[in-house]
Amino acid sequence: MQDKNRFDLVLLWRIVKLARPYKKAFYAAAALAVILAPVAVARPRLVQEMVDEYIFKNDVPGMGKIALVIFGVLVLESILRYLFIYITNWLGQSVIRDLRVSVFGHITSLRTRYFDTTPIGTSTTRTINDVETINTVFSQGGFTIIADLLTIIAVLFVMFTTSWQLTLICLTTMPFLIAATYIFKEKVKSSFQRVRKEIQRMNAFLQERITGMKVVQIFNAEEQEMNKFKSINREYTQANLDAILYYAIFFPVVEIISAASLGLMIWWGARGVIDNVVTLGALIAFPLYLGMLFRPIRMLADKFNTLQMGMVASERVFRLLDSEEKIPDKGSISEGKLSGSVKFDNVSFAYNDVDYVLNNLSFEIKPNQTLAIVGSTGSGKSTIINLLNRFYDAQKGEILIDGKSIKDFQIHHLRSRLAIVLQDVFLFGGSVLENIRLRDESISREAVIAAAKMIGAHEFIEKLPGGYDYEVMERGATLSMGQRQLISFVRALVFDPDILILDEATSSIDPETESIIQYAIEKLITKRTSIIIAHRLSTIRHADNIMVLDKGELQEFGSHEELLEIEDGHYRELHEMQYLEAVE
Ligand SMILES: Nc1ncnc2c1ncn2[C@@H]1O[C@H](COP(=O)(O)OP(=O)(O)OP(=O)(O)O)[C@@H](O)[C@H]1O
Ligand SMILES: [Mg+2]
Repeated sequence: MQDKNRFDLVLLWRIVKLARPYKKAFYAAAALAVILAPVAVARPRLVQEMVDEYIFKNDVPGMGKIALVIFGVLVLESILRYLFIYITNWLGQSVIRDLRVSVFGHITSLRTRYFDTTPIGTSTTRTINDVETINTVFSQGGFTIIADLLTIIAVLFVMFTTSWQLTLICLTTMPFLIAATYIFKEKVKSSFQRVRKEIQRMNAFLQERITGMKVVQIFNAEEQEMNKFKSINREYTQANLDAILYYAIFFPVVEIISAASLGLMIWWGARGVIDNVVTLGALIAFPLYLGMLFRPIRMLADKFNTLQMGMVASERVFRLLDSEEKIPDKGSISEGKLSGSVKFDNVSFAYNDVDYVLNNLSFEIKPNQTLAIVGSTGSGKSTIINLLNRFYDAQKGEILIDGKSIKDFQIHHLRSRLAIVLQDVFLFGGSVLENIRLRDESISREAVIAAAKMIGAHEFIEKLPGGYDYEVMERGATLSMGQRQLISFVRALVFDPDILILDEATSSIDPETESIIQYAIEKLITKRTSIIIAHRLSTIRHADNIMVLDKGELQEFGSHEELLEIEDGHYRELHEMQYLEAVE
């Protein structure tokens, strides 16, 4: 328990440190939290004064004066409260704006393995919902709690100095209030945790089903999915209703306790006035004090929960920010073109450190040559690209570019000299033009068009409604496979890479598009080192060398003619099969 508390303080301190760029606002909020307490208590104190010193003594001009002072205090309190609310919320919003940027920045720097093992929904939740919850630590949690606690202390102080007997009478109900508050706080906390869990489930469910809606509809699975959704929805509603139930019970209970307090006070206070132990002013001011005492106590339980939820969320966000799931980037080579020789030297690699996907793989590509990689599905072809691009690091062996280990290159530089067309082309929401020049606004429209013309994609892009400004929907859903592929080719070419890597899509496309794509590929691979993971014979034939991969091992390596010579060779077999298909 001790440890847990200490840890929470460390966490709280870390949250507070987020406000470092906003020191002025932070101190202003802290100062306001302190000032607000005495100002709030001053008003009932003045009312008491008015009754005892002026009304009873029939001092009419004095009464006017003190009424003015009370009004002035009221105005002052309103202004301070406005400033307090605005500044604490401004602070919270500023902090989470920065935090969102650093969380997203951190996510973009994480290695591919993180994305392999983390559902998309989780990263989204961290960046949006969890960060949002941290806002409440500033806007509703920290300062407001301090302000409330100080108000309670100030009210108690004034109550005791006014009449300690009356105060003690009022406080007799306190144990009930504390017990009720404690029970409420625990119950609400657990139901809020349930609410959060259920909303996460619902988010994850919806995101996946909407993305895969086609499959749901193709397999007529709407009803089953509907039932699953209904059950998640039911539990979510129930969790919310439970939380509401506790509020519905707690608030009337507090009302009853505070009414009891008031009743006790008046019963005893009235006798006190008669016996001259208590002034009438005090008796009038006390209900006001009680109101000021009970309100923050009632709110405190709620605010502590808010604070706690903010802390839980911040813990998750910090854990993400602390995660060092990054590929070590210690290389020093940060500029210069590559001449483009690539060498794999006894490379072995496993995604999970156990099941090796590549085994002792060695091969070499000379500058400006083209290597085609063929092999059955799952043989490790795409994995080779993942290593070359440093999405993952191989466990054994070394990969060399221009004779230097790829670890000697800064990752940013390495990737800027390689262009990769992935097997599953991904397009972002935005125009065709934006999709082509992705990382670089300095690439002109003309350069994009020139690149498109060069590989023969210009005509098709022009035909789209709006041409280069055609809005591609999320994931490129409104374009065909072949069209997406061509756009990604232009994307690769426009950066004029030294090494081009192309993972051909497996799906078949119509003969017309096929010939356009074939032409594009030929253009792409001239004058630079190229690695093509090929599924089509037409693509393979242009390569200087062909590598046949089987279960992560090199089986055959050589030119088209050389490989055809091998008796019972894999490539020969493959060639005959595809050739026959083509003839039929
Ligand atoms: N991110 C990953 N995490 C774990 N295992 C993976 C991952 N990606 C691929 N694998 C495994 O590595 C092996 C090789 O996959 P790879 O994608 O390299 O095959 P491929 O030769 O490109 O196949 P295809 O022709 O179907 O594209 C497969 O057995 C696959 O299950
Ligand atoms: Mg692949």
